[in-house]
This record gives sequence, structure tokens and C-alpha cells, in this order.
Amino acid sequence: MHSYSLIAPAKINLYLEILGDRADGYHELVMLLQSISLADRLELRANGRQAFRIHCDSPQMPPQEQNLAYKAAQVMSQQFPDSFHQFGGVDITIEKHIPVSAGLAGGSTNAAAVLVGLNLMWELGLTQPELQEIAAQLGSDIPFCISGGTAIATGRGECLDPINSPDWLWVVLAKYRSLEISTPWAYNTYRQQFGDTYLTDADSIQSRASRVHSSPLVEAIVGQNGAQIGQQLYNDLEKVVLPEHPKIARLKGALQRSGVLGTLMSGSGSTVFALCDSQAQAERIKQELTDDLTDPDLGLWVAQLCSNGIHVGAVAKK
Ligand code: C5P
Repeated sequence: MHSYSLIAPAKINLYLEILGDRADGYHELVMLLQSISLADRLELRANGRQAFRIHCDSPQMPPQEQNLAYKAAQVMSQQFPDSFHQFGGVDITIEKHIPVSAGLAGGSTNAAAVLVGLNLMWELGLTQPELQEIAAQLGSDIPFCISGGTAIATGRGECLDPINSPDWLWVVLAKYRSLEISTPWAYNTYRQQFGDTYLTDADSIQSRASRVHSSPLVEAIVGQNGAQIGQQLYNDLEKVVLPEHPKIARLKGALQRSGVLGTLMSGSGSTVFALCDSQAQAERIKQELTDDLTDPDLGLWVAQLCSNGIHVGAVAKK
């Protein structure tokens, strides 16, 4: 059987607005999701057993059973027991480049790669929408990670409408490595503080969500206007995370003062990113921050906005 090496890009949020509560306990969201070139690499290799094993070089990864990549493999074996029986389990080796608990969908994109990889290895022939339906059971960001690029995301985040990627833009990502923010904490705190502003009827939510298609941000992306994109970046979760973690707010301020197109916290943080109009600008800002902040806990990465989700890096025959 073939073994597959898959590239799993991280994502950033160019926009995240919380509209209201859902009956399933999640939030109704409007987001603009964007893949970036910072990516993990996953190797999937048949192991001749009736089990999955995860190997990872990062000590920060959760234990196997809590790992989203493992959960994705388990779901596939439950949904396709005959194929699991026929082809057997898989050893999944994750080469980690995306920081963990960073608001960059690192765990989600690993799970997405496992779904795509098992579809190939077990010759299931599932279409992308079919894979995304399975992905939505595992996490709100995972359907997007499969297709990647740039997409308007509504509902829980799983209803996707792709648009052209502003892939000429670059980002500097900045994250204090020891600072991890729990996503449920961020959403629950937002509900406590801003729940009284939530839209409550389905029609208002629907019409608010559909307005994003003609929003200034989407128009700026379609019109390839980098300055306008930078000005329209927005994330509701900043309202709860930044006051709780002034360190992140100061980091965002330092990035903003460096003359970039715009800055934003991604997802529930703790990564903040600065949008840049060239690789040279991004590299210069990364160097300036390294020199000015001299904090060994601060991680900085340069990445390009990109138009692809999970893709095969290499195929090898056993
Ligand atoms: O779907 P996922 O497991 O990635 O979500 C993590 C957490 O983020 C959820 O447990 C929930 O607290 C919050 N969330 C939410 N509404 C969404 C997506 C996520 O409240 N649409």
C-alpha cells in the first residue's frame, strides 16, 4: 500500500464576528478564514495492525487519545469498518511547525490531513463535501482546513463560501509560547459579557450573515486592495482576550506601530498577526521585534497567505 506525506496549512481569521447562540451550545459566527504557508507535515503509513498510532516531535501535543488527528482516524474507522478491516491501521507521524493552542487551527488541520489521507489510503473515493461533512463532527474549523484558501464561514464555522485568495500578502505571526488560551473559555466569557447583544431570531442571524458577502473586507479582497484589507480586520474575541492578557495587547500595539497594513488576534489567540504587503517587509518586522522585545518566550514566524488546503506532498510505495 502507498504511504502519503500530506501538507497541512495553518489558518488565520481575517474576520470573526459572534452573532448569537445556537441550540447546540455553540455560537453563530461570521468569519473570514485564510490559509497560510506555515504548515505541519503528516506522514501516514500502513502499520498492519487494527489500530492507529500517533508519533509527534512536539512535547506540547496532547496525549494520543485527546489528539484530534487520532480522533479523526477513529471516526473514519467507525464510519468505514470494512475498509479499516481490509487495509488496517495507520502510523501517523506529525512534523509540527504550527504552534500549539495558538488560534491557528494546528490541531484541526492535522485532523483534516488524516481524513484526506485515509480517504486516499483506503481508496474510499469520498468527495471533498463528503469529507467535510465528516470533518464537521470533529470540530468547527476542520471542514475549512480541508479545502483551505480564503472562505466566508458561517453557522458554526462549517458553512463555507470560497473567494479568491489575497495570496500576494504576507504575515508576521507573533505568539508568547507559554501563553495558551482556552477556546471554550474565550467564547464563554464573551457570552457572559456580551450575551445581551446577541441576535436571537433566525431571520436576523441569516440576514446579518449574508451581509458579509458585500462587506468592505470582502470587497477589498476581491479588489486586491491590501491597505483596505488591513483596515477591515476584525475579531470580536479580542474584546475578552486582550483585557485579560495585556501582554498580547502590547504585542499587538508593537506590531501596529511598525507600519504594517493591519494587525489582529487570530481566533481565540494567543497569536496576533501583522499583515504585510511583501515578504521583505514581514522579514524586516520580524527582525525589529526580535531586537526590540528580546524575550526568549516570544515566537515569531513569517508566512504567506495561500490558496490551498490539505495537499499531498509525496506518495511512496511500500
Ligand atoms: O468546534 P471546536 O471544537 O473547534 O470548538 C471549540 C470551542 O469553541 C467549543 O467548545 C465552543 O466553546 C467554542 N465555539 C463556539 N461556537 C463556535 C465554534 C466554537 O462557541 N461556532
